[in-house]
Amino acid sequence: MFSEKLKILKENRLFREIKDRESPQGPRIKFAGKEYLNFSSNNYLGLATHPYIIDKVKRSLDDYGYGSAASRLLSGGSTLHKELEDKIAQFKNTEAALIFSSGYAANTGIIPAITDEDTAIFSDELNHASIIDGCRMSKVDILIYRHKNLSHLEELIRKKIAKRKIVITDTIFSMDGDISPLNDIYEICKKNNALLYIDDAHGTGILGNGKGALSHFNIHPEQWIVQMGTFSKALGSFGAFVAGSSGVVEWILNTARSFIFSTALPSCVIAASIAALEIIEKDSDLIKKLWANRNKVVNNIKDIGYDIMGSETPIIPIRTGTIENTLHVSRHLYEKGIFAPAIRPPTVKEPRIRITVTASHTNEDIERLIEALREVKI
Ligand SMILES: Cc1ncc(COP(=O)(O)O)c(C=O)c1O
Repeated sequence: MFSEKLKILKENRLFREIKDRESPQGPRIKFAGKEYLNFSSNNYLGLATHPYIIDKVKRSLDDYGYGSAASRLLSGGSTLHKELEDKIAQFKNTEAALIFSSGYAANTGIIPAITDEDTAIFSDELNHASIIDGCRMSKVDILIYRHKNLSHLEELIRKKIAKRKIVITDTIFSMDGDISPLNDIYEICKKNNALLYIDDAHGTGILGNGKGALSHFNIHPEQWIVQMGTFSKALGSFGAFVAGSSGVVEWILNTARSFIFSTALPSCVIAASIAALEIIEKDSDLIKKLWANRNKVVNNIKDIGYDIMGSETPIIPIRTGTIENTLHVSRHLYEKGIFAPAIRPPTVKEPRIRITVTASHTNEDIERLIEALREVKI
C-alpha cells in the first residue's frame, strides 16, 4: 500500500529525505564528512552553540539530572520551569506564562483550549501548519482570510455571527518571511471585541529588540491578547510558551491536552532557554548583526534579479517558479557547498528556495552564497 503511495511521491518529485548532520547546528555544518555553509536554519542568533548556554546546561544536569519523568501536573516540574515562566512573563510584559514541549504542541493544545462551540476563528491563509491543526482540532467554525488582507478579515468578522471571535496570525510568516500587519489587526480586534492570538515563533528574539512582534509595533499586551512563541528558533533551544493574562494561562494549564498529557521538557532544555533570554536581554549586538547580515543578503539577491516574495526579515524566500527549477537551484547550491534545500508543496503552495540568514554568518559566507546564486540565476 505505502510503496504505491511512495512511488507517486517520487514521480511527482515530492519525496523527502532527512540529512544527518555530523556537527553542531551552526553557520557551517557537516554532512557525510563534507562541510557546508548553512543557510537553512532558524538558529537566527547563533545561540544553539553559545558557550554560556552550554555551560548552564551542563550545570543543570548536575542539579536536576536529565529526564523529567512525566507531565508537570503528575510529577511536578523543576524550579527551573517556574523560573523560565516568570522570566517569559516579564519579558513579554504579561501577567503569566506557561511552557509547552514544542510550538506544535502549543498551538494544537492552546487553540482548542481557548475556543468553545460559541467561538469562530479567523485565520490567515498562510498560518503555520500547527495553527491549522490546532484550529481543526478545536472543531469550531474556521474562516480563512486572504494573506494579510485586512479588508477581507474585516468583512468576515463583520458578517459572522458568533458569541466569541478569535483572530489568529503568525507574526513573521515562516515560509514567506513577511510580517503580519499587527497594528491594523489589533484595531480590528478591538473594534469587533475579538480576542487576538499571535504565533510569535519567528518574531521572538528578532523583532522589537528581541521582545517580539508586540514590542515591534508598540502594542500593549492587553488582557485579550494571547501570545504564543517558541524557544526553538532565535533562542537556539527547544520548546514553546504561551503568555497572557493569569486567567487565560490558568485556563490553558487546566485544559490544554498537549500540556496535561505530555511529559515535561527536561530541565537542561529549560536551563538553555533561560540562558538564551539572559543573553538577548543583556546584549543587543547579536540582533543588530543579524539584521545587518540580512540586509546585505537581500540587497545582493535583489541586485542579481531574484524575486524575494515580499520578505521583510531574515527568512528570505527566492521565487523559483517550478519544482524542477527549485531542485536545480538547490542542487547547484549544494554542489557549491551551500545548504539551502528546496521547499515544495505541501509545505508551501509555490515552490521556493528558503534562505535564512543568521548573526553568525561572516561576510565571506554571504559572498559565497551570493556568488553561487548568481551562477545559477535562471
Ligand atoms: C510559525 C511557527 N509556529 C510554530 C512552529 C512549531 O514550533 P516547534 O518547531 O517548536 O514545534 C513553527 C516551526 O516549526 C513555526 O514556524
